Amino acid sequence: MALSISHLLGLRGVPASDITMILDTATSFKEILSRPIPKVPTLRGTTVVNFFYEPSTRTRISFELAEKRLSADTVNFSKTGSSVKKGETLRDTIRNIAAMKIDMVVVRHSAAGVPLFLTQCVDAAIINAGDGINEHPTQALLDMMTLRAKFGSLKGLKVAIVGDISHSRVAGSNIHGLQTMGAEVRVCGPKTLIPRGQEEICPVSYNLQETIEWADVLNILRIQLERQESGLFPSIREYHAEFGVTRRRLQQAKKDITIMHPGPINRGIELDSDIADSEFSVILDQVTNGVAVRMAVLYLLSGSDAKVDQ
Ligand code: CP
Repeated sequence: MALSISHLLGLRGVPASDITMILDTATSFKEILSRPIPKVPTLRGTTVVNFFYEPSTRTRISFELAEKRLSADTVNFSKTGSSVKKGETLRDTIRNIAAMKIDMVVVRHSAAGVPLFLTQCVDAAIINAGDGINEHPTQALLDMMTLRAKFGSLKGLKVAIVGDISHSRVAGSNIHGLQTMGAEVRVCGPKTLIPRGQEEICPVSYNLQETIEWADVLNILRIQLERQESGLFPSIREYHAEFGVTRRRLQQAKKDITIMHPGPINRGIELDSDIADSEFSVILDQVTNGVAVRMAVLYLLSGSDAKVDQ
């Protein structure tokens, strides 16, 4: 059992066979997580560095837990408190860490392309934990795992991604992954937050109610409040009025719809608080599945031949 890729930089170009193998492996690992002692020796002797240059709650803790559940040795790097503050370059930093004999690097960075750059600096397997506005592949994989568990298959599922598509690595990875797996994907948001040429990748709607009527699933993105200062949307109140997912809008559609959000949520802006916690929401299932997906990615990229269910 082996992936066709040796690093996980994104889901663009990753074949359906690899995605299926990751999701199937994650499903097996999820069973381990519900055992009284949720730990297996699968990655004993493997050293993983969590190389985080940007804040994270879910992804960082989820990767660290996944590594510990597999008995890997883990080291956490953060920019604060490191020699980056003294001017050390990214290349020197990673090459020095690699000289201490590591096997895998999980990287989050505000600049798109950093995971690819790291593959050119060190021999370790590189896993992208979110790079700028480019990709966030493990987020899309955990989103797909959650949908596959709920609907049985991704084929033909209608998924709408709502919000700031232009600046979203979550949207980037989800569009590639879901389309590869046979889902129908649309994006919806204000014109100023949809990239030029998006129609060549998937259908675009500027009307949230029409999108809700079409979709089985809404994956709602965090509005990056800092974008308001650059004039990309007029006010938070106006954004909520046009693109906020509310109970009233969902009730108008007269059907069950699955609500997803990668977090962190701006409650009352892109998503009403009671909907985030409602029976429609799978937001915390996404977080739980994140640990299993990250275990699967670490295991499959490690080259380990240990069995999953030991
Ligand atoms: N979904 C996600 O990437 O969340 P964090 O930024 O908290 O890791």
